Amino acid sequence: MRVLVVGATGAIGTRLVPELIHRGHEVIGTSRSKDKAERLRTLGAEPVVLDALDARAVREAVAAAEPEAIVHQATALADVRFSRRLDRSFAQTNQLRREGTDALLAAAREAGVRRFVAQSFANLRYARDGGPVKTEDDPLDPFPVKAMRETSAAMTYLDESVTAAGGIALRYGSFYGAPNDGLLEPVRKRLFPIVGDGGGVSSFVHLDDAAAATVLALEHDGPAIYNVVDDEPAPVREWLPVLAAVLGAKPPRHFPVWLALVFAGEAAVMMGTHSRGASNARAKRELGWTPRYASWREGFAEAYARPPAATSTAIPTPART
Ligand SMILES: NC(=O)c1ccc[n+]([C@@H]2O[C@H](COP(=O)([O-])OP(=O)(O)OC[C@H]3O[C@@H](n4cnc5c(N)ncnc54)[C@H](OP(=O)(O)O)[C@@H]3O)[C@@H](O)[C@H]2O)c1
Repeated sequence: MRVLVVGATGAIGTRLVPELIHRGHEVIGTSRSKDKAERLRTLGAEPVVLDALDARAVREAVAAAEPEAIVHQATALADVRFSRRLDRSFAQTNQLRREGTDALLAAAREAGVRRFVAQSFANLRYARDGGPVKTEDDPLDPFPVKAMRETSAAMTYLDESVTAAGGIALRYGSFYGAPNDGLLEPVRKRLFPIVGDGGGVSSFVHLDDAAAATVLALEHDGPAIYNVVDDEPAPVREWLPVLAAVLGAKPPRHFPVWLALVFAGEAAVMMGTHSRGASNARAKRELGWTPRYASWREGFAEAYARPPAATSTAIPTPART
């Protein structure tokens, strides 16, 4: 298949492009920067410069590329400072999940693109009642905390518009496996505490496993939503000390809820105390996907307990002549 990867230079995109090529697909990859797009050639992709928020440019790029499938992996979180007002940190990503998705779906429709797969998210979204682990059929949180209402709504918008168009939304767990992962510094510096009883459940997925599931989703008929997460959703009080130990950091501090509310805000408290995890049963059953890292326990150790250079998937910078 000829596949257009929008957001090919990112954490997931740089793993997805080689995986697609390995499976025999032809890849066109996008970046907003000409330099970064050119460097996609080293991964085997045909480069295109594109801003997914420019609807006209999207139409032209899709028409010119003539893809049979589009993958929307564009987010704007890499250099973002996560504030207590999550909606502010996610504003541009939310735009990409709304306007970017609209532009890509419209262009796909016009160009007769058969398959569409988009990045969604599993954590912080499911209703905070009942059991700790949720399937795609379980209800989403009807009352997201105030600080992340727009972010929740943008993810739901993406899920609904992609599936209404016959596509597949992948609710990934929290990505890990990149040496510059934004989670690592706060854990190393003991700035990521266990809040209250630390009972909020997180689902993780190694970037390589996320890429493999994405290829399988592209080869599958939609519409559908899949949780793309590992086999072991776990409360913060379990996974955070393990990550700290793998990184050689001191054990995480413990904060009472009231203190965390003051310093980190309600979204952080919700994540630390009441968030639900996600089940990967449907992705395994329908996509035939088996994560190589069944649990973050082995994945964290494999990704972070060795020198960063060995795990780097950054796009290589061409040598100067
Ligand atoms: N994904 C999430 O929901 C989420 C949530 C919390 C934390 N994080 C953390 O954030 C970090 C990176 O996140 P990520 O993997 O989602 O993204 P990423 O590695 O930053 O990749 C984002 C991709 O989107 C592209 N992009 C950005 N704006 C675009 C636009 N206007 N038009 C077209 N493409 C655009 C970027 O390409 P160019 O810059 O080359 O144009 C890049 O390829 C990780 O540490 C992750 O754990 C992610």
